[in-house]
Amino acid sequence: MTAANTQMELGAARSDGPSVQEVLALDVVAPPPELREGYYEYLGSEDIPVERYTSQAWHDLEVERLWRKVWQVACGSEDIPNVGDTTVYDIAEDSLVIVRSAPNQIRAFHNVCLHRGTTLVEEPGHVERLRCPFHGFTWDLDGRFVSMPCRWDFPHVDAERFHLPEAKVDTWGGWVFVNMDSGCMPLSEFLGRFPEKFPWDHDHFTKQAHVSRLIACNWKVAMEAFLESFHVVVTHPQLLMAMGDANTQYDVLSGERRWNRMITAQAVPSPHLSGEPTQQELVDNLLGMQFGPGASVALAEGQTARGLLAMLVRTQLQGAVAEGSVISDSEALDAIQYHVFPNFVPWGGYSRINYRFRPDGSDPNSCIMEVMMLSPFDPAGPRPSPAAELRLAPDQDWGDGTNFGLLADVFRQDMANLPRLQKGLRATRKAGVTLGDYQEVRIRHFHRELGRWLDPDGEG
Ligand code: FES
Ligand SMILES: [Fe+2]
Repeated sequence: MTAANTQMELGAARSDGPSVQEVLALDVVAPPPELREGYYEYLGSEDIPVERYTSQAWHDLEVERLWRKVWQVACGSEDIPNVGDTTVYDIAEDSLVIVRSAPNQIRAFHNVCLHRGTTLVEEPGHVERLRCPFHGFTWDLDGRFVSMPCRWDFPHVDAERFHLPEAKVDTWGGWVFVNMDSGCMPLSEFLGRFPEKFPWDHDHFTKQAHVSRLIACNWKVAMEAFLESFHVVVTHPQLLMAMGDANTQYDVLSGERRWNRMITAQAVPSPHLSGEPTQQELVDNLLGMQFGPGASVALAEGQTARGLLAMLVRTQLQGAVAEGSVISDSEALDAIQYHVFPNFVPWGGYSRINYRFRPDGSDPNSCIMEVMMLSPFDPAGPRPSPAAELRLAPDQDWGDGTNFGLLADVFRQDMANLPRLQKGLRATRKAGVTLGDYQEVRIRHFHRELGRWLDPDGEG
């Protein structure tokens, strides 16, 4: 199609093969209306400046104008279920201690002692009060100063003015968002129409796994590797047999600046394959990847691979979803992935995956990637305890101590690219990164908003 493409309007070209909407239209159990929509918009073709990924000055601006101003996911509400439960959220050089201060109240304090500056909390835990481990200055769960040893030596300390500085807190879908800017817009305004377009309630999911790992690249380099399926054909060729990679639908909704989406259909062949596999081959390939070679279930007459595999997933999830709720084929099978500005990547449907990406302190060449696997649980039973974070060293593999299975192989392949990309960005003589008009539009959409926040004359 290359010759024809040059005649087309910019951004209008699409891969050969059935579109996501054409696949979804044939499903046995139809998807929710939110998945039957597509809303791509051409956002231009200009390069993205390389300095955004490599320069200390850009990183410092991100700290000042983005991280200290923007709503961001700090933890799950289920991570701190009881009054007195705490967890820590570090972002760049800032640190917040997140506390459940009352059954229905969560607070986020700057995690620094007002005496000489020790961090108050280092690991998730449970406290009656926030007590500094150095000299014992103590605050209650509402941040009020309570006591210190040798009070006689601090007549100049006014307890009223020794309140722990606080960040704003709000929640959506079981996630705790924080914002260090007291003058920020409300979270509901920040999220725009995202809650309306994301019809899954993560409040009724629980965290089954939480794994983090340092990666030797900028946080945006890592995140952007997960915002497109363009790289699947070369980086993850083992997935091609049963994934419509180049037919992925990329959605940026006009006027919605802080979230976008992609949908990649599974149990359909990639348009990159030379011959088309049969429906039974699609089933065998996907089951083989998941359960080992030879795993197979025979298709019934007239049944599609999607129809059969979705049915198997529904059987698996029985008892974990509210009675009467129907899981569509697409929600059971497809990669339905959203990006919430700036660094949160929740998946829709029942794919369970969520990513978060953060800078590693003040180093623009290092970042922390987290994978949080959510699972629905029996709504009639008690909420299971969420998984604790497993921190992998930079030389550790995503398969070490996790049950990521197939996904560990995929991450291993991604990790091989990322430090090379960062090294290349620092070595390049080219001023900008070039993006595809359609398949990489989510990266462009993100950078547009990032530019608004960092540009003092922008509309951020
Ligand atoms: S530094 Fe915290 S009590 Fe001294
Ligand atoms: Fe990848």
